[in-house]
Amino acid sequence: MCGIVGYIGKANAPSALIRGLRRLEYRGYDSAGLAVLDGGRIEVAKAAGKVSSLQDRTRELWDQDFFNRITTGIAHTRWATHGPPTEVNAHPHLDQSGDIALVHNGIIENYRNLRSRLEAKGHHFHSETDTEVLAHLIGDCDKGDLFQAVCDALHQVEGTFGIAVLSSREPGKIIAARRGSPIVIGVGDGESIISSDASAILAHTQRVIYLDDNDIALVTIDGVDIRDLNNVPVTREVAELTMSESAAEKGGFEHFMLKEIHEQSEALSNAIRGRLDLEAGSSVLAGMGTSPRDLAELTRVVLIGCGTSLHAGLVGEYAFEDLADIHAEVQQAAEFRYRNPIIGNCDLVIAISQSGETADTLAAVREAKQKGAFVMSLCNVVGSTIARETGRGVYLHAGPEISVASTKAFTCQVAVLLMMALRLARGRRLSREDGLALAKDISAIPQLVQKVIQQEAHIAELAKDYTKNDHAFFIGRGPMYPVALEGALKLKEISYIHAEGYHAAELKHGPIALLEKGTPVIALACDIPGKDKTIGNVEECRARGARILGIVTEGDQEAADCMDDYIMVPRCHPLVATIPAVVALQLFSYHVARLRGCEIDQPRNLAKSVTVE
Ligand code: F6R
Repeated sequence: MCGIVGYIGKANAPSALIRGLRRLEYRGYDSAGLAVLDGGRIEVAKAAGKVSSLQDRTRELWDQDFFNRITTGIAHTRWATHGPPTEVNAHPHLDQSGDIALVHNGIIENYRNLRSRLEAKGHHFHSETDTEVLAHLIGDCDKGDLFQAVCDALHQVEGTFGIAVLSSREPGKIIAARRGSPIVIGVGDGESIISSDASAILAHTQRVIYLDDNDIALVTIDGVDIRDLNNVPVTREVAELTMSESAAEKGGFEHFMLKEIHEQSEALSNAIRGRLDLEAGSSVLAGMGTSPRDLAELTRVVLIGCGTSLHAGLVGEYAFEDLADIHAEVQQAAEFRYRNPIIGNCDLVIAISQSGETADTLAAVREAKQKGAFVMSLCNVVGSTIARETGRGVYLHAGPEISVASTKAFTCQVAVLLMMALRLARGRRLSREDGLALAKDISAIPQLVQKVIQQEAHIAELAKDYTKNDHAFFIGRGPMYPVALEGALKLKEISYIHAEGYHAAELKHGPIALLEKGTPVIALACDIPGKDKTIGNVEECRARGARILGIVTEGDQEAADCMDDYIMVPRCHPLVATIPAVVALQLFSYHVARLRGCEIDQPRNLAKSVTVE
């Protein structure tokens, strides 16, 4: 999705801005631009396509002297919503006078009305964007005080925004504001940096301030003054970033996705560390914040999320019902928010989101809170909006996930959900003995995952035979059903092979009609309850000429013999087994996509953080 960077300090601002934009490339975008202050003028450079094209454009436009004297600017990567990804639609946008520049993430929902009103006053627009309308509106409100003008304009806006604004009439300041789209401000030594994502700030400072909704900040070289939209001062804490700059680098791997697959052992250790009670056979998750009494009173667990996070929720559904004997259900966040869900104060709603910024999940959180549910979150990005709005929950500690396709966040989500279910289960019906058995297997997850990663060469070799197909099917039962869904999502999003995940029993209700000689069927046939029935379904597929790749349990040669190809994953608790199984599928998808020459870290049309509905 779109990304914002702003810089005010003593250094060469265009270079700092380009460097910041590069850090945001992983979010997915299709054009980029920047605006800088040169004395009493605003200079703009924009390009459709990549940040490297923008950098080339700045070199064409400006000489080294210019670069050296410019110390203030704002920049943007745009993921097109209103109007195609052209240079003219790229941000920054200027107001009517050309003295004010704006970059914006989010959507101005009432931009058509605002535009007509401004056109009636003589404003001319060059782009199709909602953002240009906001730039003009700020200019229209500007009576000599930019801060007040931004406040006045934002009062008229419906929708979401994270913005940074610059005026040639008031150099030495950038105004930033947010509603529904994150803004974080780095407070450096003689410099301040604004961004929509902390990773763009790391090169300058670890000290950051996260804006809350309806905060507006006056950012100068010396620091930040934050107020609400009525110009009343508010206090926001300075937080310390814990991620390192090198964590945002590829670390010698060909792609971030591969690096993140390999990091899973460590990420899972971080997610699990200190959270298991191997004496009591339970888990210790302070962030859940529920007393044993509260836990006993819960009557339902509702898991909400989108995409991969939704699939993690589906594994969680099995875990909560199976272990804690509590009714659990998964709902797509986008559906939940609009269906007027039946939710009450005995419901535990768990919002699952790697980024913590997904618009639909955030809206679902607000709806669940409104209806009085006990809401908590499971996020990776510390300080993200969903984490802050839920106020309680558990962080994944998976480290930054840069590749658009989620890998380590998924496995950490599942591990944390298992620990949450274990905690709930021990407060209800699960015996210490059964709790201990599960806790031991959860503690072994990092090693189980490592055993799969060690088979990468074998999996890469297998992948060679699966690169030419147009379609693939993934099947599984029980907790392996969501793994089949996640495997299919991984393959389709990075290799562009059409892939579908089905419950193994569902194939014969329709999709089996698509099987032909050589159609790949990837069967999650680990040795867990239901395996024999899955193998029966495998036989049905083989009888129709499908080529079967089985994910089977180590030592289960009988199952392996039913497959054309197989990957063995370690034996463990059926719920825990979902994690090594999905790692095998992540590696498989990665190598198929690599052999097909795909742009793995930034697949076409996709964005890392989906902040629009
Ligand atoms: C797929 C993927 C997406 C995300 C989804 C939700 O690999 O990453 O399906 O899972 O966009 O994102 P978060 O978890 O940030 O809410």
